[in-house]
Amino acid sequence: MSKDSREVVKFYEADVWGDTIHPGETLLTERVTELAQIEKECRVLDLASGKGKSAFFLYEKYGCQVIGLDLSPKMVSYAKTKATDEGLQDRLFFLVGEAETLPFLDYSFDVILCECSFTVFTDKEKTVRELWRVLCKGGRIAIADFYLKKQTPSFESEVLFPCINGAEPEAAYRALLTGSGFHSLCFEDHTNKLKEFFFDILFNFGSLSTFMDKLPKLGTGACNKNSYREIMKAFHNETLGYGIIVGIK
Ligand SMILES: C[S@@+](CC[C@H](N)C(=O)[O-])C[C@H]1O[C@@H](n2cnc3c(N)ncnc32)[C@H](O)[C@@H]1O
Repeated sequence: MSKDSREVVKFYEADVWGDTIHPGETLLTERVTELAQIEKECRVLDLASGKGKSAFFLYEKYGCQVIGLDLSPKMVSYAKTKATDEGLQDRLFFLVGEAETLPFLDYSFDVILCECSFTVFTDKEKTVRELWRVLCKGGRIAIADFYLKKQTPSFESEVLFPCINGAEPEAAYRALLTGSGFHSLCFEDHTNKLKEFFFDILFNFGSLSTFMDKLPKLGTGACNKNSYREIMKAFHNETLGYGIIVGIK
């Protein structure tokens, strides 16, 4: 695990987050699953599954097989305990692992979901090659994440959140996926959900800076005292967006 990945994990293990760490909560997860055409027979990987909320939702809504994988042992342990408490330990599986080196055989999954995590992966090209490898033919990759609405951001990206720092324009995500062979890409904008996400933070913590103070300080410079101003600027000048991109193998 790289030093950057360790820092990112600490950031998401902080006590400030709820059971989901993504804009739109389960409502947006539901939209992702529709676009990915999940059905009962699907074998689904929830990549960077966090506390497992989406994996539980998938199982409850579709009854499909779900494996959640995350780099954080703490989050995986939380999800596993919840599965055991609910008697679902033989149906929902969670394991510690890294997106860049997936511990699965070729053609293991019909669908891979990746919510609010792709931007933090340290090697996105390697990750996409892994996604391609473990998906079966006709399998779908569905990524929901931050993206840049303008090619040249006017904010200082190094002071933002880890997930915002890694955001790229829609065209870059398309190029990454088609570069590995994915086709029939579709993209949907959900920036309104991102605005609600930050509104909830403001509502719950009083200000973005109060919220930021509760997060671990990162050696990368991300999430320092100027971050909240940069995020606000990004909203004002419509630089930052949130969207779903789906591709087929
Ligand atoms: C913003 S959280 C999203 C969690 C979950 N998908 C959700 O929507 O609630 C990002 C997650 O990515 C995980 N993560 C970061 N780098 C990773 C990597 N290289 N491989 C696997 N998981 C990673 C973190 O531990 C964290 O749980």
